[in-house]
Amino acid sequence: MTPPSPHAERFSLAGRRALITGASRGLGWEIAKAMAEAGARVHINGRDAGALDKRCRGMMGAGFEVSPALFDVTDIGAAETWLDAQAEAPDILVNNAGLRHRNALTDIPPSAFAQVIDSNLNSAYALARSVAMRLKDSGRSGTIINITSIAGPRARPGDAAYTAAKGGLEALTRSLAVELAPDGFRCNAIAPGYFATEANAPWVEDPGVKKFVDARIPMKRWGQPHEIAGAAVFLASDAASYINGHTLVIDAGMTINF
Ligand SMILES: NC(=O)c1ccc[n+]([C@@H]2O[C@H](COP(=O)([O-])OP(=O)(O)OC[C@H]3O[C@@H](n4cnc5c(N)ncnc54)[C@H](OP(=O)(O)O)[C@@H]3O)[C@@H](O)[C@H]2O)c1
Repeated sequence: MTPPSPHAERFSLAGRRALITGASRGLGWEIAKAMAEAGARVHINGRDAGALDKRCRGMMGAGFEVSPALFDVTDIGAAETWLDAQAEAPDILVNNAGLRHRNALTDIPPSAFAQVIDSNLNSAYALARSVAMRLKDSGRSGTIINITSIAGPRARPGDAAYTAAKGGLEALTRSLAVELAPDGFRCNAIAPGYFATEANAPWVEDPGVKKFVDARIPMKRWGQPHEIAGAAVFLASDAASYINGHTLVIDAGMTINF
C-alpha cells in the first residue's frame, strides 16, 4: 500500500472519472456537481439531450470538466456503445437512475413491475459488470456507489416493485463488494430517506405528509437534494478506502426513530 496522503487530499477526486446515472436533475445532479467540484471529470447521464447539454454548459462555463452521457440505463447495448466510445472507463460509477410506480399489488401489471426492476436493479448490475470488466481489462480498479432507499430493507403497502428493486440493489451492493474487492474495487450504497426532489414535489407541500414528517423524522424536515452529495464524494474518495459493502443511510434519523 502507498503511504497515506494528508487527510484533506484524501477527500479529493482529482484525476478520477465519474459516471453518474440519472444526473440531469434531483439527487444525481447534486452528486455530479459535487464530484466535479471535488476534482473529478464527470459524465452526466440521462435520456434528455437538451437537459444534459444545459447542465454541462453551465458547469463547463464555471471551469469544470463535465460531459453528457446520453443513454437509457435500461438499454445496456446503448450504455456499452457509450462506454466503448470513451478513451477510458469511468473509475467511479454511481448507479442513481431509478423509476417508481406506487400501486397496490393487484394494480401493478407484470410489465410495470419489470420496468421498476429494470431501471433500478438490472441496469445497475449491467453497468457495474460492463464498467468493472473494462477497468479490469486495463489493469485498473474503481468504486461503485448504488443509490438504494430506506424502502429497501422495509416495506409499506402499495410499493412492492420499488421495495423489491431497492432491496435487491442493496443485496447486489454486498455481492459486488465481496466479489470485486480482491481486484481493488470498493462498492457501497447510499440509502436516502425523504428528499425534496422534483419527483417528490407533490408530497412536500401535502399537509398529511407534513404531519408524517413532523412525527417520524427527528429533524422534522425533508432533506434538500444537495445534502446527499457529501456522502457520495466521501464514499468515492480515498478517505473511504476501507469502507466496502456498506449502506450509508441518509434520513435524518427517521429509520432509527422508535
Ligand atoms: N428523492 C428521494 O427522496 C429519494 C429517496 C430514496 C431513494 N431515492 C432514489 O434516488 C435516485 C434519484 O432520485 P430523484 O428523486 O433524484 O429522482 P428524479 O428527480 O426523478 O430524477 C431521476 C433522474 O434519473 C433520470 N432517469 C430516469 N430514468 C432513467 C433511465 N432509464 N436512464 C437514464 N436516466 C434516467 C432522469 O432524467 P431523464 O428523465 O431526463 O432521463 C433524472 O435525471 C432514485 O434511484 C431514487 O429511487 C430518492
